[in-house]
Amino acid sequence: MTRRPMSLQTRLMTAVIGFVSLILVIVAVITSATLGATLERQLEDRLKVYSGQITQLVNTFPEGLASVDNISVRLKPVPGLLLAVSSTEGGTSGVVYDDTAGDLGGSEALSTRELAQINASLAGRPTGTVSLEDFGSYLVVVQSAHNGVNVVTGLPRTEIQNQLATLLTVIALATIGGLILLALTTAITIRVGLRPLRAVAATATRVANQPLDRGEVQITERVPASEADPRTETGLVGSSLNKLLDHVNDSLASRQKNEERMRRFVADASHELRTPLSSIRGYSELSLRALKQQGGEAAVESTTTSLERIQAQSLRMTRLVEDLLLLARLDEGRELVYGTVDLTQLALEGLSDARPTAADHHWNIEAPDEPIVIVGDAGRMHQVVANLLANARTHTPAGTSITLSVAREGDEAVLRVHDDGPGIDPGVRDELFARFARGDSSRARQTGGTGLGLAIAKAIVEGHGGHLTVASEPGDTTFTVRLPLSPATASAE
Ligand SMILES: Nc1ncnc2c1ncn2[C@@H]1O[C@H](COP(=O)(O)OP(=O)(O)OP(=O)(O)O)[C@@H](O)[C@H]1O
Ligand SMILES: [Mg+2]
Repeated sequence: MTRRPMSLQTRLMTAVIGFVSLILVIVAVITSATLGATLERQLEDRLKVYSGQITQLVNTFPEGLASVDNISVRLKPVPGLLLAVSSTEGGTSGVVYDDTAGDLGGSEALSTRELAQINASLAGRPTGTVSLEDFGSYLVVVQSAHNGVNVVTGLPRTEIQNQLATLLTVIALATIGGLILLALTTAITIRVGLRPLRAVAATATRVANQPLDRGEVQITERVPASEADPRTETGLVGSSLNKLLDHVNDSLASRQKNEERMRRFVADASHELRTPLSSIRGYSELSLRALKQQGGEAAVESTTTSLERIQAQSLRMTRLVEDLLLLARLDEGRELVYGTVDLTQLALEGLSDARPTAADHHWNIEAPDEPIVIVGDAGRMHQVVANLLANARTHTPAGTSITLSVAREGDEAVLRVHDDGPGIDPGVRDELFARFARGDSSRARQTGGTGLGLAIAKAIVEGHGGHLTVASEPGDTTFTVRLPLSPATASAE
């Protein structure tokens, strides 16, 4: 069984608190050691002062009188002070002045065993530490007075121990308090700091639970802006997720749009093909019936008419299927055959092809004398010009002026088809270049268009690396084709 992984919060808290505790323990140890040493030195200094004073006092005594009692009488007693005197005559005796020691000098005598203990702790050295059963730990100093009298003075070390104990208690309490505070602030900081990550996880989970595989889907879930501030590390994760979700959402929307466009295209194409098909079926049934029932002259006449209609509808179907095929190939990036195309020449030819088809329109051309050459497919570019001219002719009333112009603008070749007809039908303006986009249906039916002309022109122009745009208002409609000039023409300034 694998161990449950520690959360980031637990790990950070353990590390921070463990580390800080360790530092505090080290600080406490160093502080108490330093303070202990200082206090010990102070105690020793004080003791040496007392020891010196007492030894001087002893020096003033006549020989043989240097006893503890005699000294006590002359001494202003210090509470807790230990005093022991050993002389060759008087032996060794000692006392410890108690806390109540006033001028009367209350004191407690040291036992022989304690005196021996003191002696042993000194063992020939001037200072020593001794632990006495009744009085606790003592720092003692020995000094020799006249006549071989040894004066031992001592001060209790309990004072130092008490001070150290107080210090350690204070440090311990402060440490525990500090650590609790630290734990709280760390926990809160981590909690607040990790909140954006929790928001990210929650958002991601909600998105993951959303069905995205079909139909119109929209990802509206986002990490709240308050948790997605890119200036913080954790906020950056949230803002990146939001960007990703925006991107995915846009892609889903455009995929959905493409799918719909494709569905509509298939439906439109089927519909367009059904109309001529049903009329072919109708006319073939009609001519069959005429042949079977009428026979003779009448049947020949009716059958001829029907066959003419059938031929016309088949031609329309063929044109439609060819247009669809061409579009499909242009979509794949195939179909264009590259060579050099002189747009000036192309415009002249286009116009002379179009002119006879509509004698009741006024045709103009504005083209420079020199050739304007692009790299491209001559046949397809011809088709673009023909489609634009056919539109200017079929979607405008008689008497309309149509101007075809070719020019060179910077490193681009520009071909414009302008007419002063009624302009583009507002119903079709937004989708003008879409497949099967046609204006006013009655007029379109009358003109027999399928709505593929501009889609094909746009696909061809874009296949050449150019743009096809339109600007239209009543009386002023211009379709503009911009194409990159061939490198040779562009550099021949
Ligand atoms: N010069 C123009 N003036 C007014 N309307 C136009 C002009 N050119 C195009 N249109 C409008 O744009 C629509 C789309 O044109 P497009 O060439 O794609 O199709 P179409 O001419 O109807 O059919 P097709 O060209 O396939 O035979 C037209 O139906 C027409 O409403
Ligand atoms: Mg057209």
